[in-house]
Amino acid sequence: MEPKTSRLDQGAPEPEENPGPQEPTTSSIAAIAAVAAARAACELAVSYLEGLPGRPVGERATLAELRARLGAPLADQGAEPEAVLRELAAGAEAGLIGSAGPRYFGFVIGGSLPAALGADWLTSTWDQNPGTYSVSPAAAVVEETAAAWVLELLGLPATAGVGFVTGCQMAHVTALAAARHALLARAGWDVGENGLAGAPPLRILAGAEAHVTLFRALRLLGLGSRAVESVEADGQGRLSPPALARRLAAGSGAPTLVCAQVGNVNTGACDPLVEIAELTRRHGAWLHVDGAFGLWAAASPRLRHLAAGAELADSWATDAHKWLNVPYDSGIVAVADAGVHRAAMTATATYLQQNEGRDALDWVPEFSRRARGFAVYAALRSLGRRGVADLVERCCRLARRMAEALAAEPGVEVLNDVVLNQVLVRFQGDELTRAVIRRVQRQGVCWLGGTTWHGMAAMRVSVSNWSTTDADVDLSARAILAALREERDAAAAGS
Ligand SMILES: Cc1ncc(COP(=O)(O)O)c(C=O)c1O
Repeated sequence: MEPKTSRLDQGAPEPEENPGPQEPTTSSIAAIAAVAAARAACELAVSYLEGLPGRPVGERATLAELRARLGAPLADQGAEPEAVLRELAAGAEAGLIGSAGPRYFGFVIGGSLPAALGADWLTSTWDQNPGTYSVSPAAAVVEETAAAWVLELLGLPATAGVGFVTGCQMAHVTALAAARHALLARAGWDVGENGLAGAPPLRILAGAEAHVTLFRALRLLGLGSRAVESVEADGQGRLSPPALARRLAAGSGAPTLVCAQVGNVNTGACDPLVEIAELTRRHGAWLHVDGAFGLWAAASPRLRHLAAGAELADSWATDAHKWLNVPYDSGIVAVADAGVHRAAMTATATYLQQNEGRDALDWVPEFSRRARGFAVYAALRSLGRRGVADLVERCCRLARRMAEALAAEPGVEVLNDVVLNQVLVRFQGDELTRAVIRRVQRQGVCWLGGTTWHGMAAMRVSVSNWSTTDADVDLSARAILAALREERDAAAAGS
């Protein structure tokens, strides 16, 4: 007897092994467009990377030229994604600075490690929002892991709270919000509930060479920057512990915040944190450390002594986009008391799911944001502990090499002790120093910026890029000295 089959069974087609070509759906058309744009972006990015070591480092177009190329009115009609990317890359080309390349020594700017750059591309492709665990479990676990690696490398307490922010500026804002929360709570004031109006006064002390971003963070937090008491620093920019001791002893008992730094933006000098922490502990003050780049010295057994005592602080601000060579933007904040960190930052809403895993919004001021942990994770995974130490040590060695090459020329003075990756150079007077900087920038072999140090114009050299070699430093030193001779000749011809 034939087995009974229902009408539905009879009508159902056999499943096909290969369904063959099908009509494109809207979603497959979108995927094709996305893949085509990604391929074009990848091709453009690869060609940029191939040209990066050899391209002139500085800008090659005037503001007016860039506006003419890029500054069109918004069109009514859109354009194909691939065409947009090619047009954007062509228009931007002459205004792109080779700051990710090996002979860029301006500010404190790192490049992009290959693994970090790749992870950064994936971050955009995956488009995860790490705000809460449920929105991206992978981002949450990667952040949690990268946070633990960073604390270990920097020698900071493993129980500290960590947040991934845009840069050291927002790391300060986050850390100092935690400091404000804790110090006012000790004075019986809940700043989260009550705000600052009517709050007990806070006392804020910072080294005379504190970075400008610290003052902006205080301003943003309603603490004001004018109220900061400046503590004397020595000739290299290091906060003086005896001066701090005198100030703390003269306190009125107000809750006190002390801001120190590892890595002065001009000289690279590091505050003596062991002595400073001993003082802040004795006086019950909160110690915040600006270690934007210098804190990474702690990852090197040879240079760790420069950051000794950092582990005794209450909060730290640093960057991954500087010395760790993670693409922009990538800053890291850590707070020793994770409970205080979280209390100062957390936010809740009924539509947010309770999660077992890490909710990044508990540790940073943002709600939704870029999943920055992926690139930090990839950088650290690709370097390993030894690789981070090598990177830091190599940059410091190259900074000394540059200092020696320049100082060998008569009339060139290195103004700082080159303890880290920063060199300050002066060429017989303000005018000549500024003229040499301008000429070097125009010529484009390398790029360096200027500063004023103790009232004198100086050229800043910051060696922060993973791909810089001895040959890059030698070539750059020759270019700087050639520019100096040309400026001297031009001055002699004009006089
Ligand atoms: C010591 C110091 N602190 C803070 C910053 C600010 O860092 P960011 O630009 O990542 O906010 C810098 C930048 O160079 C710095 O050198």
